Amino acid sequence: MNGHIAVAIDGPSGAGKSSLARKAAQRLGYIYVDTGAIYRTVGLAADRVGLDTHDQAAIESLLPSLDIRMGYNDAGEQVMTLNGEDVSAAIREPKISMCASNVSAMPPVRAFLLEMQRRTARDNSVIMDGRDIGTVVLPEAEVKIFLTASPEARAQRRMLELEQKGMPQPSDEVLRDILKRDDQDIHRAIAPLRQAEDAVLLDTSDIGFDESLDRLCAIIAHRLEQRG
Ligand code: DC
Repeated sequence: MNGHIAVAIDGPSGAGKSSLARKAAQRLGYIYVDTGAIYRTVGLAADRVGLDTHDQAAIESLLPSLDIRMGYNDAGEQVMTLNGEDVSAAIREPKISMCASNVSAMPPVRAFLLEMQRRTARDNSVIMDGRDIGTVVLPEAEVKIFLTASPEARAQRRMLELEQKGMPQPSDEVLRDILKRDDQDIHRAIAPLRQAEDAVLLDTSDIGFDESLDRLCAIIAHRLEQRG
């Protein structure tokens, strides 16, 4: 891959992928790419114009009008723009999670976004997180990790995150949303969430952030060493 390294991190929502991957990328000097944000941007665009996010024909006809770009601000944070507007905060609203999951099950949406992800990995050393990075987007990635945790542990973390962002949600609702999204992401026909055969499993249910980060970095270092 042009001398660039790709670390693919896949797993269900709320497993800590983004916060861990971001920190690990800082340590390694790689770019962190949150691919969920791209699907969220399509979900937001559809929701804003009142489309049913289950209606594939409607979503497909919306795609050509969308100029979706991914960039980085001075603080090194990923910024998503939709037709020139910074939508980085808007895509984090809880209702957009389900819209993103719905549109992400559609082949035209995945095809529309695939090249953007591959190009980023061609031009940079990346830690990229998502659902199908190790299986579909970057099957040749030097390091693949499947990061997971129990639904309860993930719901607990998501609740805290939403609280901190000033968007609190009751715990049963958060758990229900997580289970529903897991089910949808795992059982869709195209690029379903699954562990790549050559991915290392990291389960963070019973370990805190710092230990998870250390283990993640150790897996990456070990894999890169093995490559020589
Ligand atoms: O990682 P996230 O929760 O922000 O992702 C939002 C949705 O986008 C998720 O439910 C499934 C979809 N997604 C995907 O299908 N493939 C990816 N590589 C990343 C996210």
